Amino acid sequence: MFTVTDTETPTLTHTPVLAQEVIDALQPAPGKVFVDGTLGGAGHTRLLLDAGARVIGIDQDPYALNRAREAGIEGLTVVPGNYRDMRDLLAEINVNAVDGILLDIGVSSFQLDDVERGFSYHSEAPLDMRMAQSGETAADVVNTYDEADLAALIYEFGEERHSRRIARAITQTREKTPIETTVQLADLIKRAYPGFSKGIHPARRTFQALRIHVNDELGALRDGLSAAEELLKPGGRLAVISFHSLEDRIVKRFLLGSRTLRPLTKRPVVATDEEQATNPRARSAKLRSAEKTDSPVEEAA
Ligand SMILES: C[S@@+](CC[C@H](N)C(=O)[O-])C[C@H]1O[C@@H](n2cnc3c(N)ncnc32)[C@H](O)[C@@H]1O
Repeated sequence: MFTVTDTETPTLTHTPVLAQEVIDALQPAPGKVFVDGTLGGAGHTRLLLDAGARVIGIDQDPYALNRAREAGIEGLTVVPGNYRDMRDLLAEINVNAVDGILLDIGVSSFQLDDVERGFSYHSEAPLDMRMAQSGETAADVVNTYDEADLAALIYEFGEERHSRRIARAITQTREKTPIETTVQLADLIKRAYPGFSKGIHPARRTFQALRIHVNDELGALRDGLSAAEELLKPGGRLAVISFHSLEDRIVKRFLLGSRTLRPLTKRPVVATDEEQATNPRARSAKLRSAEKTDSPVEEAA
């Protein structure tokens, strides 16, 4: 069986999380075709290719796509787009069924490290946060949504209990001056936040909420799971890595409700202590995987 240490090939620069666990779940082998719906730095893709599989790598971020194309990775077909549309994207290249699908959702370290993308509250940049470089920016949202809508989205996607207070601070600030940068927003949240001294930055949950909203991350995940279920061949495998409870809940419920996907583990797989110590991103990662069955799973009586 292929193990991650069998490979001598370095990844581009992105360290893939739960690498061995993903390989164990997906079981790549020569002759198999996989979709990596979140190509990113191609870390996981490289491992699938090293095991002899063919990979169709989808990403909505033009920068990620360029990097992958420039690397000229053999056996990889690069497809621009949103993984929620994977059925149509694959149909365009005459692929109607695959052996495995990986979704490693959220932002990549490249996107976080690229200050200009506006994902980080630590560095001054335009308040953008769009992975696909199209549609509404985070600045559009904070400067145009009414206070109740802002509070609702900060509460729902950020699980932020001070959402109303933050929404009020946003609308009061923008009456005087538009909110255009990351640090401008982070500072006003810090000032509005009750009892902040140290620990998690008070803007963290609001930034998460805006990012999820701007990229419709949860909608894409729901659509992507349905598309994946249809595209998998019987015996095909699905692996989804999520990074917070909102995402994991969607994956868990989807698998519970599916009549053709059988979860491979009862509980989500998390990173070993060793991986968590060396890769901070792995600390919140949860992997759920499933196998497509030949016949629909019987519903529980
Ligand atoms: C966490 S990174 C993936 C890292 C990758 N597994 C690796 O090992 O290098 C997530 C990537 O998925 C992309 N992405 C996120 N949501 C997407 C979506 N709905 N459709 C297509 N790409 C998406 C992001 O642009 C980012 O490049």
